[in-house]
Amino acid sequence: MSERTVRVGLIGCGNIGAGGHLPAYAHIPEAELVAVCDGVEELAHAAAERSGATAYTDYRRLLEREDIEMVDLCIPTYLHAQLAVEAMQTGKHVLCEKPMAHTLSAADAMIEAARKTGVKLMIGQVRRFDHRYTSIREQLDAGRVGRPVFVRRAERQFLPFPPQAWQWDPKRGGGVILDIGVHAADLFRWFLGQEAVEVYAVARSVREAARAAGSFDHAFITCKFDGGGVGFAETSWAYPQGFGGALYAQLDVVGTEGKIQYADKDTNPMLTYTTERGHELPRYFRFMSTTEYAFEEEIRHFVRCILDDREPAISPQDARAALEMALAAQRSAETGEPVHLPLQKGVK
Ligand SMILES: NC(=O)c1ccc[n+]([C@@H]2O[C@H](COP(=O)([O-])OP(=O)(O)OC[C@H]3O[C@@H](n4cnc5c(N)ncnc54)[C@H](O)[C@@H]3O)[C@@H](O)[C@H]2O)c1
Repeated sequence: MSERTVRVGLIGCGNIGAGGHLPAYAHIPEAELVAVCDGVEELAHAAAERSGATAYTDYRRLLEREDIEMVDLCIPTYLHAQLAVEAMQTGKHVLCEKPMAHTLSAADAMIEAARKTGVKLMIGQVRRFDHRYTSIREQLDAGRVGRPVFVRRAERQFLPFPPQAWQWDPKRGGGVILDIGVHAADLFRWFLGQEAVEVYAVARSVREAARAAGSFDHAFITCKFDGGGVGFAETSWAYPQGFGGALYAQLDVVGTEGKIQYADKDTNPMLTYTTERGHELPRYFRFMSTTEYAFEEEIRHFVRCILDDREPAISPQDARAALEMALAAQRSAETGEPVHLPLQKGVK
């Protein structure tokens, strides 16, 4: 018996919309990409040509289509809340790129719209669909390294975008802390299973684009958790060009009985050490960019949640908590002081 499909409209056909999400739909039989939209006409048409979907330059025309059940938002961060709320108000389920929004009040507006309309909202914290990190999570669930106590994370690259790109702008993109730090914040919560209570960050504006925009492109972030866990992240857009591939990532998850480590540049990038069995290479991972499969897993998961009427694995509250940690890190970097969570209302 053939199952019904979910008709999808993709809004934003830039870097991650055209490069990560659009190609994934070809591998998801449960979804049908019927509309693509970008404010830049050539990008909308190029995406339509590649996918067979109808091109739009005005997202409101796409939202008017009653046959579209789900909207996939791949637009710049400062627009997430506005478009997500409008889409939910037209009754569409929304998958939205990370970070959830640029402010906590914008994130709260999204949560409120989801509550009022009853549609599903998931923020694409895509690391949770990445085989490298799901493997670590499975090992933690199996108790292989005991109770996780601290996590050390690094995500470093040379951001290849021109100085006028929204990513550098503290208001539109939030710089490296919001854009990349939010991935680390989400991994910390996911692996430790605890809530952050304090965040401290030291950050710098290294490249000219960051200095001109007034944003940070390199940050060291320390997070204390309510169960005693600690997360430490280095996030950077200021590594030398070409260094370490697309995103030089490292991760150590240390537990009471062992540790799991992952590094993109190693020949055998994942290693598990347990006090009981010593060093093991549980699975070989060659370097994989997330774009190869994790977006596909993420989108398929959300589509299945719509078809089966299940709650998505990442709740809006999860995404809000990661955003709150990143905003706290931003504030700490600006003031030089540790920031306690939850953030006070009215804090950006
Ligand atoms: N999950 C990940 O690993 C990952 C990686 C990269 C980017 N992202 C996130 O994805 C989002 C998009 O990032 P990007 O790098 O693709 O940016 P981008 O600038 O390359 O693409 C955004 C596109 O949205 C279009 N757009 C802007 N406003 C629009 C509107 N009102 N209507 C229609 N189209 C509009 C732009 O023309 C542009 O083509 C950001 O929130 C970013 O943080 C996530």
